[in-house]
Amino acid sequence: MRYLITSATPYINGIKHLGNLAGSLLPADVYARFLRQEGHEVLFISATDEHGTPAELAAKKRGQQPEEYCLTMHNVQKKIYEKFSLSFDYLGRSSASANHKLTQDFYCKLDAAGLLEEQEIKQVYALEDERFLADRYIEGTCPRCGYEAARGDQCENCTALLDPIELINPRSALSGSTKLEIKTTKHLFFHIEKLSDRLRSWITAKTDWPTLTTSIALKWLDEGLHARCITRDLQWGVKVPRPGFEEKVFYVWFDAPVVYIAATKEWANLAPKIRDFKSWWFKTEDVVYTQFMAKDNVPFHTILWPAMIFGTNQPWLQATMIKSFNWLTYYGGKFSTSQKRGIFMDQALELLPADYWRYFLIAQLPEDRDTSFTWETFATIVNKDLVGMFGNFVNRVLCLIKAKFGDVIPAGGKEGDQERELFEACERCLIEYKEALYQLKYRVAISRLRKLWSLGNQYLDQAAPWTLLHQDRDAAAMVLRVAVNLVRLYALTALPLVPNAANAILLALKIKQESLRFEQGKLLSYLKAGHAFTVPNLLFRRITPQEIAEWEVKFGAFKS
Ligand code: 2FM
Ligand code: ZN
Repeated sequence: MRYLITSATPYINGIKHLGNLAGSLLPADVYARFLRQEGHEVLFISATDEHGTPAELAAKKRGQQPEEYCLTMHNVQKKIYEKFSLSFDYLGRSSASANHKLTQDFYCKLDAAGLLEEQEIKQVYALEDERFLADRYIEGTCPRCGYEAARGDQCENCTALLDPIELINPRSALSGSTKLEIKTTKHLFFHIEKLSDRLRSWITAKTDWPTLTTSIALKWLDEGLHARCITRDLQWGVKVPRPGFEEKVFYVWFDAPVVYIAATKEWANLAPKIRDFKSWWFKTEDVVYTQFMAKDNVPFHTILWPAMIFGTNQPWLQATMIKSFNWLTYYGGKFSTSQKRGIFMDQALELLPADYWRYFLIAQLPEDRDTSFTWETFATIVNKDLVGMFGNFVNRVLCLIKAKFGDVIPAGGKEGDQERELFEACERCLIEYKEALYQLKYRVAISRLRKLWSLGNQYLDQAAPWTLLHQDRDAAAMVLRVAVNLVRLYALTALPLVPNAANAILLALKIKQESLRFEQGKLLSYLKAGHAFTVPNLLFRRITPQEIAEWEVKFGAFKS
């Protein structure tokens, strides 16, 4: 089997926060790295999602054209993802011509299948802004509670769902202008309700999907699907190739998922002799396709996008697995790009290298419920796991060998019962670790990793090679040989999570990245006496209480 992995395409309007990272990009990367390490053929694709009103507005705010703004932000985001060691095979752009073409092709096929229909709708037009306003860009006084800054779709104060025409004193949220008009305009609607049965049987057959994914999908189906408007009155987007629609573009969610395929096409075009995008996407039987996303994206990936595929009657690959996540919150509140609340990826890297964040976020991944970021938990997890268990073990072992035996792994001694028990426990743990990652159970995987680290630390504390050295130098050499094999095991198992630290260890041990396959009984005897090594620089450093206090102030931690 080959493995296709996509992560939800990050929206272009600004640098992403840690919630975005945890909600799709990072778990997808860990999975991709793990599978590659296991020797599988993997293709990991994402893209920046560049169309829609927020992109147009963000560009306008900077006095730029959307093209220019999106290109700049694509490059900014791309660089940050590289710094976070996200190992995309290709990071595409939804504004690329390949995506425009393929989106229009989807439209043509859906139209030919009789699934699209023109309908007239009433929309608010802002004369001074010279544009139609989406509901959330209309502001006014809430008719229920009197809150003066209620949005056209919902009142933030009393949570009432609103229709923009209900607002008292409505105005444009863009300019504040009250010169609004209600105009009738024509749009295209996609009859997804005609595909309900197909969607339902597709989803109910996916018994191994996270409940979070299927429950959201079934809720939509149970409530009944309705035709969805797939066009917008904007300039920036994929043009609608239909008479009378010259001034309109497709709704951003219509072209966003298509980019998974279009980006693969671009990737294949970089090396057309050896790559074939259709072999990954079209009429495939040997591809396992996993999508990663946060829960707000689930309706689009379980309803709209599969409906687009079913509707075309073309054999595009549907997801084998949709791994969805709850929210990572910031002190229980929402991370927010527009309100600049929380920690953004560039800010995080100014404080500490990527591996610290990667490990913490996977350890706290909101798999079964929302989880909260706090500076306290961040520091506790880093200090306890990365510094105290992992880094400290590696450092203790390698420094001790170097100080007492020199630059090669020492010979002498023979393993006994204690070692055999340790080998078996580590083997069991490793098997469970791999199984958890194959099944995308990240928190279980982390618990197995912690168990491996504590097995090693306990062994070292009990065997106490530093004392043994004075009584039985051979026995001490044997213990350290076993321990250095644990260091190797730790580096290889941690590779998908903390690739930079793990690679530094592998380099110091002078070994290559290897798969986690092993021969029974040999797990801790790969590195033999006489094997040369060096001591890596400090892998992880402790986060101090002063830093926590400082960061709490700087990033506005609100304690309850
Ligand atoms: O939620 C988001 O940030 C969207 N840009 C995700 C789109 S995923 C897709 F379908 F491409
Ligand atoms: Zn209200």
